[in-house]
Amino acid sequence: PEWVITAAHCLTLLERLPMRLVFNSLNLNMIKSKNTRVISKVNVFYHPYWDNKLLYDVVLIKLENQINGIPIIKLNKERSIEVPGTMAKVTGFGTRKYGKLKMEKHMRVVSVPLVSNDQCRKSYKKIYNFNICAGRKGKDSCTGDSGGPLFIQNKTLGQTIQIGVVSWGENCGIKNKYGVYTRVSNIIEWIESHVNL
Ligand code: ARG
Repeated sequence: PEWVITAAHCLTLLERLPMRLVFNSLNLNMIKSKNTRVISKVNVFYHPYWDNKLLYDVVLIKLENQINGIPIIKLNKERSIEVPGTMAKVTGFGTRKYGKLKMEKHMRVVSVPLVSNDQCRKSYKKIYNFNICAGRKGKDSCTGDSGGPLFIQNKTLGQTIQIGVVSWGENCGIKNKYGVYTRVSNIIEWIESHVNL
C-alpha cells in the first residue's frame, strides 16, 4: 500500500517533518529499521471540512513509495453493516486508563459494540453523520489511540473492514459514554477522489 488513513488532529500536533512511519510492529520497544519509513516530503490531504477541532477528523497520507508485505485494509462503503450492537474492534498503543501518561509498549485490541448516533447523542451533543460511536463500560479506546482503526472482522469471509478512525471521547470506558470515530462510509467519496480503491 501507499496510503495511510489517520486522524487529522494527530498530524496537526506533529506536523514537523520528517515524520516516521512504523508498520508491522506490535512492540514499540523493538522497532526494526525495516519496519519504518521516514517521510520527508508532505503529501498530506486533510479532509476539506476539517476544522482543527473535531469536524471531519481525518487525513490521508500518500507515501512516496509503496510498502510491500502488509495487507491493505478494506474500507467500508456499506452503511448497512454498521448495525448498532455489532461487535467491532479497535487497536492501538494508547493508555489503558484515562489520565495515565504512559502509552502501552505492546499494541492492544479491544472489542467494542457499535452504538447508534441517536444513542451517542444522549452522551455528547456534537455527534454528526460523519461520526460513529462505539464502546461500553470498560471497553473503549483511549488517549494515544487516535488515528487508529475501528474495524469489523467477518470471519466467514475472512475479511477485515475498517469502519472508523479513532477521533475523540470524554474520559475512557465510562458507562454511557463512548468512543467517537470518524465514519469511513460517510467520507468514502472524498477518499475515492484521492485513492483508487
Ligand atoms: N483524542 C484521543 C487521542 O488523541 C483519542 C481519545 C479516544 N477516547 C475515547 N474515550 N475513546 O488519542
